[in-house]
Amino acid sequence: MKRTPIIALDFPSPDDAFGFLDRMPSGLWVKVGMELYLQNGPDIVGRVKDRGHEVFLDLKLHDIPNTVGRAMEGLARVGADMVNVHAAGGSDMMERALEGLEAGTPAGRNRPALIAVTQLTSTGEEQMNLEQGIPGSLMDSVVRYARLADDSGLDGVVCSVHEASAIRDACGEDFLKVTPGIRLPDGDMHDQKRIATPADAARAGSTHIVVGRAITQAADPNAAYETVKRQWKEG
Ligand code: C5P
Repeated sequence: MKRTPIIALDFPSPDDAFGFLDRMPSGLWVKVGMELYLQNGPDIVGRVKDRGHEVFLDLKLHDIPNTVGRAMEGLARVGADMVNVHAAGGSDMMERALEGLEAGTPAGRNRPALIAVTQLTSTGEEQMNLEQGIPGSLMDSVVRYARLADDSGLDGVVCSVHEASAIRDACGEDFLKVTPGIRLPDGDMHDQKRIATPADAARAGSTHIVVGRAITQAADPNAAYETVKRQWKEG
């Protein structure tokens, strides 16, 4: 099931972020990352939501279960619609994260979706083998972490398009597969190494795509967003 594309709101300041949103329609899904959140505090989420957008708060928590559970209780109150943790924190941590979200969700609102980071796409197989001490292929590790997240009750994972179909086979259609690294067919790659188009992501079984610079740095962001949406829908 394909959901609304998520725009990565990667801007150095709230003024830049809100200047961009002023040029866009309401009712978007946007991703607020560490850069904006840590420099501006929780208010940034409320300010984005007050403009009628849904927020994926990408803070990738990874700590002991009690700490992550308490932090998630707070993030549910802040009003995020989707949040994430590292699957490497383990099943206890993921379960406590979910409990924290449930406890912190205000009455009458939906619990924020909770997804897990498996292996960061910046991690190579050799690095995983040598530095993390995990033997085998990166794909096996990603699928194992996705299964762990699923068994812990999480809603999905962040993954590359390249991994989406293996995760669909392991965890099913409804398990969320949120995939960054998206570019329009003739667009600039920027610093991403493995990129895919919105149509590639749709065919691979992604449920969400995260698109940053292909929209935010386009000469006409609104037109770029419409193109992404169309290609995603048709893919
Ligand atoms: O501008 P671009 O479309 O490359 O932005 C992608 C967004 O997704 C950025 O916010 C980046 O940090 C994030 N991301 C990623 N790869 C991951 C996880 C997150 O590009 N594996």
